Amino acid sequence: MTALRPTGTGFDPDTATWFLHTPNTTYALRLTDGRLAHVYWGAALTDAEAAALPVRAESGARQRGSTSFEARYDGTEEYAWDGGVRYGVPSLQVRFADGARGLDLEPVGDEITVDRLTIRLRDRHYPVEVALRYRLRPDSDVLERSVSLTNLGDAEPIEVLRFDAASWALPHRDDYRLSHVTGMWGAETRLRREVAAAGETVFTSRRGITSHHANPWVMADDGTAGEEHGEVWSVALAWSGSWRMTVQRTPLERLSVSTGFGHDGISWRLAPGERLDSPVSAGMFTPGGFGAASRAWHAHVRRHVLPHPEEIRPVLYNSWEATFFDIDVARQSALATRAAELGAELFVVDDGWFRPYQDDRAGLGDWRVNPDLFPDGFAPLAEHVRSLGMGFGIWVEPEMVNPDSDLYRSHPDWVLHQPHRARTELRNQLVLNFGRDDVRAWAGAWLHGLVRDTGAVFLKWDMNRTFSEAGQPGAADPDRLWIEHTRGVHLVMDRLRAAWPDLRIESCSGGGGRLDLAILARTDQVWASDNTDAADRLRIQDGFTRLYPPGVLEAWVTDSPNTVTGRRTPLAFRFHVAMTGVLGLGGDLAAWSDDERCEAASLVALYKRIRPLVQQGRLYRLRPPDADGLCALQFADDDDVVVFAFRETPRMGFGVPPLPLAGLPRSARYRDTSTGAEYDAGVLTHHGLPLDLPRGEYASTVVHLERRRRP
Ligand code: GLA
Repeated sequence: MTALRPTGTGFDPDTATWFLHTPNTTYALRLTDGRLAHVYWGAALTDAEAAALPVRAESGARQRGSTSFEARYDGTEEYAWDGGVRYGVPSLQVRFADGARGLDLEPVGDEITVDRLTIRLRDRHYPVEVALRYRLRPDSDVLERSVSLTNLGDAEPIEVLRFDAASWALPHRDDYRLSHVTGMWGAETRLRREVAAAGETVFTSRRGITSHHANPWVMADDGTAGEEHGEVWSVALAWSGSWRMTVQRTPLERLSVSTGFGHDGISWRLAPGERLDSPVSAGMFTPGGFGAASRAWHAHVRRHVLPHPEEIRPVLYNSWEATFFDIDVARQSALATRAAELGAELFVVDDGWFRPYQDDRAGLGDWRVNPDLFPDGFAPLAEHVRSLGMGFGIWVEPEMVNPDSDLYRSHPDWVLHQPHRARTELRNQLVLNFGRDDVRAWAGAWLHGLVRDTGAVFLKWDMNRTFSEAGQPGAADPDRLWIEHTRGVHLVMDRLRAAWPDLRIESCSGGGGRLDLAILARTDQVWASDNTDAADRLRIQDGFTRLYPPGVLEAWVTDSPNTVTGRRTPLAFRFHVAMTGVLGLGGDLAAWSDDERCEAASLVALYKRIRPLVQQGRLYRLRPPDADGLCALQFADDDDVVVFAFRETPRMGFGVPPLPLAGLPRSARYRDTSTGAEYDAGVLTHHGLPLDLPRGEYASTVVHLERRRRP
């Protein structure tokens, strides 16, 4: 979308309406009858129009004496707390020391600058303050919200039972449909689109990580939006631990979304004088369909979330699928040589380098290079890698410990555990409590030493199990660990990055288990899935890039048959799928034939030419993965265009019709960089790009179109 006007906040004293203008949208809330009503979220309005917005309490059916069953404001409140006549989803729920539940908040003041608004509310009786915060960016339609909760008392704690970052109220529409992603290990971020159920729909993680199973965002439309048209509202949460997002569709057909950290049943005892800050929940409206929504999120993440958005991500080689735990200096060095020949720019040693055995039973936590595998430490390999012109990267899993480790033998109390309960191992490992100062100090120190001693410029930060028996015996407020562990992980990453400004980090959690706007603020890319099967990846990557940009999606080309699915696919198909994200290599290059290596080197070279478009351009999903016959993606900047097309299964010998492209400037003319063919934008848009796909299964092609400058 092009910016229509400057962004900014405003307040109309006559109607007590605050408004927040993003370049293309307006958001408004109002103080009315002593309560904060949400009044508008949609296409841009003027200040006068925003002030004139009517506020309507929902009424529903009426008959004399029949109004005692409905809560009139459910689903339309600016922030829905528990208390009074409310039956909707509470974003804030507390219990006071005298046993009273529920809040009775009244607005007591606001602070307003050009890009920020804070509205303070206080309870009419108890000493508690809630500050609702809003932040605008001059070049983004994403509105960032968060909340602070302060115990103003000096004696009693307040038990916080639920504390969401925002409730988002959508305007009334005839119907509502939700888009979200779901999955599991090896099958992450698969798009689902379904009618919003009457009642409540909960997306959540109770696992201590963002999770493979759901991702903290949802998009809503009225059931008629398409890829390039229609109103779409999206809500995301920037949090890398357990979370909850509840969509409610009220009896009066209003839709709202409440989201925040923590899951059901965990609490926080807010001490006198203490302030608890929620993470950010970001919301965005677009009238341009799901494609415009994704492009606006991608632009926002690049401009306002990622630490180094201007950088082009390198082509890396990762040894995991080539060797699994069977690693040593000779094999790694040989792989590095081959990877460099193909054009890799970064070589990453994966799991196994510190292990006493060639499996996952022991060694996690000790983080000493195994001298049987690397007799002279990492230095010879790291130097070899650097002599080949590549950066050196290392896999780490700082939050984990094997019980069979010196660390666990010395600090059995450092792991999450409950008294009188088993310490259940998953993958033979337990979770270190990063909410503890001593654990964070230990992790920060060894990570710092590892980077210093090896000259590593890249860490793959993995997290390979979910929480269980998550307690910290003796802690005054044990549930805090759910929040504090995540904050601790963020803090260790932030400090490491501050100490090593050239260090780049990949977020990984058994594939894509830790993917959210908060982890993207302190990492540079994300390992999307341990499933590297190219056909499955088309779906996983489609869901991933609904909100997160292709420039953070790490995708390796691995061997055929695939180690997860056993499927055989041509090398070109595997490359083309990986080239729609951040291309990496992950196969056993020692086993690749000369022909395969030659083809791979030319595809890596092609990727290097087009990657600014893929990593930083605009994505148009011309045909999604399950469109009949053909899946096609287009990436464009103001000059060039690259189109990828995939046909998994041919049918009846039908050919492929020309593929209409999207978003091209009307007067532009393009040249296919490989065939030299020239096309006018109008022809490409209204007739389509001719595609030359090979015969057979898993056929694919890539077309790079360069804009011709007219004399
Ligand atoms: C996780 C990661 C993999 C690999 C293994 C190593 O599963 O997602 O890429 O690093 O751990 O144990």
